[in-house]
Amino acid sequence: MSSTYAETYAASSLDPERFWLDAAASLAWDKEPTRAIDDSRAPIYAWYPDGMLNVSFNALDRHVLAGRGETTALVYDSAVLGIQRRFSYSELLDRVATFAGVLRSQGVGQGDRVLIYLPMIPQAHIAMLACARIGAVHSVVFGGFAPKELAARIDDATPKVIVTATGGIEPTRRVEYLPAIADAMEQSAHHVPTVIVAHRDGFAHERSQYAGGDTDWHDWDELASAAQPVDAVPVASTHPLYILYTSGTTGSPKGVVRDSGGYAVAMDWSMRNIYGVRQGDTMLTASDVGWVVGHSYIVYGPLIAGAATVLYEGKPVGTPDAGAFWRLIDDHKVDVFFTAPTALRAIRKADPDAKLLGGHDTGSLKALFVAGERLDPDTYGWACEKLGVPVVDNWWQTETGWPIASNPVGLELLERKAGSPTVPVPGYRVEIVDGFGSGVPAGEEGNIVIKLPLPPGTLATLWGNDERFIDTYLSQFPGYYTTGDSGYLDADGYLFVMGRTDDVINVAGHRLSTGAMEQVLGAHQAVAECAVIGVADELKGQRPCGYVVLKSGAEITEEALCRELASMVREHIGPVADFREVRIVEALPKTRSGKILRKTMRQIADGKAYSVPSTIEDPSVIDALIPLLRPTA
Ligand code: COA
Ligand code: AMP
Repeated sequence: MSSTYAETYAASSLDPERFWLDAAASLAWDKEPTRAIDDSRAPIYAWYPDGMLNVSFNALDRHVLAGRGETTALVYDSAVLGIQRRFSYSELLDRVATFAGVLRSQGVGQGDRVLIYLPMIPQAHIAMLACARIGAVHSVVFGGFAPKELAARIDDATPKVIVTATGGIEPTRRVEYLPAIADAMEQSAHHVPTVIVAHRDGFAHERSQYAGGDTDWHDWDELASAAQPVDAVPVASTHPLYILYTSGTTGSPKGVVRDSGGYAVAMDWSMRNIYGVRQGDTMLTASDVGWVVGHSYIVYGPLIAGAATVLYEGKPVGTPDAGAFWRLIDDHKVDVFFTAPTALRAIRKADPDAKLLGGHDTGSLKALFVAGERLDPDTYGWACEKLGVPVVDNWWQTETGWPIASNPVGLELLERKAGSPTVPVPGYRVEIVDGFGSGVPAGEEGNIVIKLPLPPGTLATLWGNDERFIDTYLSQFPGYYTTGDSGYLDADGYLFVMGRTDDVINVAGHRLSTGAMEQVLGAHQAVAECAVIGVADELKGQRPCGYVVLKSGAEITEEALCRELASMVREHIGPVADFREVRIVEALPKTRSGKILRKTMRQIADGKAYSVPSTIEDPSVIDALIPLLRPTA
């Protein structure tokens, strides 16, 4: 019998132990868990402490053993190459088992880390699932990050192997990966013994150019042709499946650790109850495997559910036009489509009347989900009107791995309110508190916090750093996880997420640290001090803008400084930061103890009522900045 959202949410809150043990029953366990929550190390919780399973087995073997080996698991659609390729569950399983054998042959065992730096090609799925198969811990790094960011991740995760390709294809250029890997390895203190390279035609660099150092560079296909397939290895539910780095407020990225059992349950449960995707359905998630959305809903979620997943190598616009998504839905008869609001804005800008929709049959589509940033009411209205299916905003973070708030379409489609990702998902007890941790009335904005324990599938800790995990997320409001977002719950219990409370910004759905950009700017010889804040951008949601005070005597024009700083950010963080705006200012607003008032600057730039702390050193600095921060003011 199906339950309503209200009944399901109540059941998850009243008896989480029972609720999540029941949810675990639909997976294949090597040892069934008898307990759901382990609170013995609270505030750090673990899920299914006595259970054992293998996530790759649940994503592949389970479906093949059930006689569904010939159904489609993966559709690779490359708009940049103009090719499509289908993999059945049996075929994908073969590839994964063989690549697991490759990893084994390179000395990778349970618990060893494998860094994956791949574009949107099937090898990404294969490498991730092969790691899971032998209990190795993968860490996928997004291809748009620069070698320095890659080096930071190599040093933190200390991988035994890097799996990569000769390059990725952007609409306007080919991005060579091998020089970036070599550069990153040069910059990192940790030595990586082995690099495995998937060859793609049309790239200048080949692995053979890098032979001769103390790292072995191998060809994927050569190793695979000699490898023995490997069976799935049962691991403890608490065994780490992957590390995914995300930006925090400082320059050093945080390695979010995902467990195996809790995550598998969360994927299985959310596919059915949130996304309404079932065996045999097709899901298209147009994100990147380097982001959390890609991990959960391009790779693990759809495969655990026994659905087909579309792996799209291309962009929403320009490959070749703003009809790319509609073509994908038509070609692959997509049931559920997931993208970022910025992608919809890009399509709308290029094709405001969605004329390109007319050339495609999108009748298979049941719902469109969006996440990664706030879905503005304007874009929401446009998508609803043009697509004629429910458009569902869902709010979550790399840390949580799956939605905190959503319209639970699989359970029931609730009334939608523009600007709101609807209601807390079962398992997440969401509250709004003021700076002292006291609850605020409905309708009033405050810090969004979640009562511990978080549900299964959420971050287990930060890689090798329980202390940073507790300090960053669990200390500010004891008993709660601090999301870093602010917002409010309305009288009907609908959540509205309004923005970050810290220095994290979101550029075209990419989460970036302004602190990391400030570090880069600060290294320029003419820069005395600086602040980077996110300013509103019509297309990308936010874009970074640097406010710089020059060293006395420094002679450089704003234009030249901007050019140099933009290229430094590109080199040190990566092109995705899209840093191209700099203002030279006389002074930055500070407290008497020297802290830059970034929050006040952000509030002014966002056109909000701004607060100036009484400890400000010189209030006139703010007055001078207002015309620069808010040019139309
Ligand atoms: N490898 C190498 N470079 C990459 C890259 C990758 N995987 N992804 C992006 N870049 C580069 C781009 O080539 C571009 O470089 P350029 O400055 O030389 O042109 C730069 O990073 C910025 O790229 P992008 O963020 O894609 O911006 P854009 O202006 O080219 O395109 C959008 C705008 C809106 C179409 C695009 O940002 C987009 O598709 N966003 C959706 C993002 C998304 O799905 N996020 C996941 C959240 S769930
Ligand atoms: P990431 O970890 O990259 O997924 O980024 C998470 C952050 O993106 C969140 O903390 C929010 O600030 C923002 N975000 C993601 N999805 C939404 C959404 N649906 N509505 C509002 N903000 C969102």
